[in-house]
Amino acid sequence: MASQRVLTGITTSGTPHLGNYVGAIRPAIAASRAPGVESFYFLADYHALIKVQDPARVQRSTLEIAAAWLACGLEPEKVRFYRQSDIPEIAELTWLLTCVAGKGLLNRAHAYKAAVDRNREAGEDDDAGITGGLYMYPVLMAADILLFNANKVPVGRDQVQHIEMARDIGQRFNHLYGGDYFTLPEAAIEEQVATLPGLDGRKMSKSYDNTIALFAPRAELKKLVFSIVTDSRAPGEPKDPNGSALFEIYQAFASAEETAAMRKAYADGIAWGDAKQALFERIDSEVAPLRERYETLIANPARIEEQLREGARRLREQHATPFLRELRHAVGLRDLSTATAREAQGARSPKAALPAFKQYRESDGRFHFKLVDGDRLLLVSRGFDSPKDAGQRVAALKRGGFARPDADVALGEGVAGDEVARALEALRAAEEAKA
Ligand code: TRP
Repeated sequence: MASQRVLTGITTSGTPHLGNYVGAIRPAIAASRAPGVESFYFLADYHALIKVQDPARVQRSTLEIAAAWLACGLEPEKVRFYRQSDIPEIAELTWLLTCVAGKGLLNRAHAYKAAVDRNREAGEDDDAGITGGLYMYPVLMAADILLFNANKVPVGRDQVQHIEMARDIGQRFNHLYGGDYFTLPEAAIEEQVATLPGLDGRKMSKSYDNTIALFAPRAELKKLVFSIVTDSRAPGEPKDPNGSALFEIYQAFASAEETAAMRKAYADGIAWGDAKQALFERIDSEVAPLRERYETLIANPARIEEQLREGARRLREQHATPFLRELRHAVGLRDLSTATAREAQGARSPKAALPAFKQYRESDGRFHFKLVDGDRLLLVSRGFDSPKDAGQRVAALKRGGFARPDADVALGEGVAGDEVARALEALRAAEEAKA
């Protein structure tokens, strides 16, 4: 794989606010346009269930976040954009990974430990109110990442430990089942991305109830901006930009020149009311066109639903489903009919019993291949211009498995796609066992 796979999830548990926009949405969309990256952005709605058990809120938040990313310029044709719960392979992989994840590793997860600490402080039982979901959170996240062999995972500092756990769990699986099934991901920490202060000057966060909704209507945006805390300096008195939430938010939206001009205005004693008006106009000029798109998008939720499903459908077909097939085989969840008597006794199946690809040249001068199992013809190809083209298609089948016939390959008489898939699985298993 030549390109870098960058993957990140957004938990669908709230309404997008300016902090999300500056800290995540805007930089991620910019990064998705860089050459040589394949970006995966998904709505982590399984993760949302850990925090939010209000179904209407989960649904609403999923819709709002999807619409926000699209309104801000995410291109679903170029970026893998999907909803976690549309890919059942994620849940299935979670279980396979659960069975190799050390319980001790999960005990050390910060989010779980913090919950235990809070219980201790309150004099409660260690695990009071803690669900298995919170405890398993890192394994689900590992499945998100490992399923798509992501190389880089952009996250905030608070999530770095989870990426390390994903590496750990992936490595254990690879080691245990003797193959390079999973790419080991790395966290990409966005150092220079601003964390935006909220209305009260603390980090803008839903848990502090100090947010400005990204798509608040203009009048509400204005009201919120005017409620940002300032000190009591009067108009004409010089003001300090350091530690001024107003100034920091301004900076996140303004160019370097505009920021320098605002710094000077502070020194010259700009009235807070005027500084707030300037901030309001600055935010609104960036957000207004996005807001308009957002409103159009959210008025047609069926269209968003369709886009998400299509994103998931393609990813399952091209990657998740064949990969899970391989992983199931790796751990021994196998088709019983492929087990020979010797295998059942713990020995490897003899080579002669394996299906095989045969490449040949027809009288038309073109290069063909077929997949045979004993005297059964499973798959036959069209003619390719060169043996290399034919060989590449064979390699792709060996690697990626088989879903259905296409322009390159047709099924043999009376053969079902599943039989081909099983034959390829058996081939791959045998080659892995050899390696
Ligand atoms: N847990 C992440 C958060 O709260 C969201 C998330 C879920 C995620 N799965 C992921 C992020 C996989 C990166 C990769 O921010």
